[in-house]
Amino acid sequence: MRKPLMAGNWKMNKTIPEAVAMVKELKGKIADVKDVDVLLCPVFTALYPVANEVKGSNINIGAQDLFWEAKGAFTGEVAPNMITDAGCSFVIIGHSERRQYFGETNETVNKKIKAALSSGLIPVVCVGETLKEREDNVTFKVIESQVREGIKDLSKEEAAKVVIAYEPVWAIGTGKTATPDQAQEVHAFIRKVYGEMYGDVAEGTRILYGGSVKPSNVSELMKKEDIDGGLVGGASLKAEDFEALVKYGK
Ligand code: PGA
Repeated sequence: MRKPLMAGNWKMNKTIPEAVAMVKELKGKIADVKDVDVLLCPVFTALYPVANEVKGSNINIGAQDLFWEAKGAFTGEVAPNMITDAGCSFVIIGHSERRQYFGETNETVNKKIKAALSSGLIPVVCVGETLKEREDNVTFKVIESQVREGIKDLSKEEAAKVVIAYEPVWAIGTGKTATPDQAQEVHAFIRKVYGEMYGDVAEGTRILYGGSVKPSNVSELMKKEDIDGGLVGGASLKAEDFEALVKYGK
């Protein structure tokens, strides 16, 4: 009932020619995939050329962040309607790197989600605990407040559009993946909390796992009941790796 979503977060990688070359290669490789939604999130500068290149294909494009105001004196920021204008239909919000290095909080995450939704963008909202929080046994408390405070005050209709990504911070870019059981436990918890907030909407909500997902571990993760896809950094940068991720079930 929940269609899987395989998302690539390119982070601060690839020039425009590099980004365009990769999607040119990838779109042919995955042209026959219908049972998985595919999303790539390049840097801002590459959004427009990449979105042009994938027009008519099964690849969706998203930004890695946005600002909540529509326009004005906000040097360096990019507004939601500018992101749709560049050809995006998704946007990543609250990635742990943004929380860690750029001062994002559950409050800014919430503003960004609302701005994204009102511009017709689908937000991919990231939550996840640090290593210290896991060791201190506060994982569920942290995740619960990220979900309750970050994704609050939406209509049911809006809440149904949100994609959530569980990314344990200790597993991002470290080569350490949460075991499928560890991930499933948190995914089921997120669905329960989201269900307390928005009722039956939660059953249809896609919850992605992120943190060192690669071709060798994707199918074990995807077998878990509450894991509906991946948010992939490192392994999304090469066409053949990302192809293998998109075709995890084959
Ligand atoms: P990784 O990054 O796959 O390189 O661990 C995932 C992410 O941060 O979205």
